[in-house]
Amino acid sequence: MKVDVLLGLQWGDEGKGKVVDYLASKYKVVARFQGGPNAGHTLEFDNIKHVLHQIPSGIFREDIKNIVGNGVVLDPVIFKKEIEALKNLNIDAAKNLFISKKAQLILPTHRLLDAYQEKQKGNAKIGSTLKGIGPTYQDKIGRQGLRVGDILMSDFTKRYEVLKSKHLAQMEAKEANDQLEEMEPAFMDAVEFLKTLNLVDGEYFVNEELSTGSNVLAEGAQGSLLDVDFGSYPFVTSSNTMVAGACSGLGVSPSKIGEVMGVFKAYCTRVGSGPFPTELFDETGERLRKEGHEFGATTGRPRRCGWLDIPALKYAIMINGVTQLFMMKADVLMSFDKVRICTGYKLADGTETGKLPYDLVSESVEPIYVELPGWKDTMPASGKYEDLSESLKSYIGFIEKEVGVPIKIVSMGPDRSHTLIR
Ligand code: GDP
Ligand code: IMO
Ligand code: MG
Repeated sequence: MKVDVLLGLQWGDEGKGKVVDYLASKYKVVARFQGGPNAGHTLEFDNIKHVLHQIPSGIFREDIKNIVGNGVVLDPVIFKKEIEALKNLNIDAAKNLFISKKAQLILPTHRLLDAYQEKQKGNAKIGSTLKGIGPTYQDKIGRQGLRVGDILMSDFTKRYEVLKSKHLAQMEAKEANDQLEEMEPAFMDAVEFLKTLNLVDGEYFVNEELSTGSNVLAEGAQGSLLDVDFGSYPFVTSSNTMVAGACSGLGVSPSKIGEVMGVFKAYCTRVGSGPFPTELFDETGERLRKEGHEFGATTGRPRRCGWLDIPALKYAIMINGVTQLFMMKADVLMSFDKVRICTGYKLADGTETGKLPYDLVSESVEPIYVELPGWKDTMPASGKYEDLSESLKSYIGFIEKEVGVPIKIVSMGPDRSHTLIR
């Protein structure tokens, strides 16, 4: 069997959690392969809204195994809280949850370092979620990180102390020490809790599932434009959010990848700093934020909003080899009489391009827009795509023609049931 990969194609928050939950019943395994608690994936059904940060979004479906892969950076404190919150809803998350021993551990000092590094950057700050993501991946690549499997070893405490001391030496010690004193007991407690869970050799786990007939849905976090190699560097996250990240973050061969499903909003949002060519600073942007409830699921920060950006979308489709597209939040645009799509950029020297420039930070680009008629559609009572208005269908058709990949799902609301399949 194959691993189908579902990815965000913009700057995160495209609605990945909703579609993973919707599709999960067709799979035996759902896997997270990168990122960590910087992610906030929202799922809504039976009038309840859930936000997952580290637990894969298949967790609400009976009999589906959920695995946190080696490419993930895991905060045991947040993980424990998430599992406990589900327990309060009578969901035994631990039963169907497996964690790769090779996933990296986020320590309390990684979180302190994240805040410290951001402060040092001043106005050039990334706008990190401050969950310790950057410093944890720095330690992984610097070959000094601690992994989930290390907690089972007799010298774990010693190794923890060594890394902690290195971290403290990088910060103003007094302030960090005071904060650490508060954070450490909860961390040690969560580490003990983590020991009671299913800690596995993730790469064997996934490959054995595949060879015994289970299909796997890999759930991306963040989005392609936040990818550490291909995103709007340096305003990115610290992992490969693209399809290749699913191979290295789970231990599966590229030959095992099946469908590549790209999720995008019918417009664009971004949270945190960094370039955003189609960002709207006016009343229209404000309206998008209000109608779309565009506030971060992890940090509550207002999301920056703008029109759909085709050059950026095409770029994300290209680097991922996307085979099918899912368009989210089409309902949010229903209060607009006319909508816009950016089809290219005008560069400072007056030339026009459909490609992303090398450095969006220093190269100022002016979006070139086309205007299309708006729509008033809500989720059709029939549940059929055919019953959408001609205006919405022509918006969809326009995007498909521009990018050359079919849009297979159109999402018309946050609830699981507000989903149209073509
Ligand atoms: P993720 O990080 O990609 O999983 O996305 P988030 O959960 O951070 O943000 C997506 C937000 O949009 C959540 O509040 C969802 O409940 C909501 N949402 C998802 N799909 C739709 C949709 O089609 N319409 C509307 N109105 N909201 C949606
Ligand atoms: P999901 O999975 C949106 C952004 C942060 C910041 C930058 C770096 O819910 O789509 P980090 O904490 O990773 O060092 O922050 O990336 N960011 C996200 N934006 N959705 C996310 O995840 C994000 N995860 C990180 O706002 O700009
Ligand atoms: Mg999110």
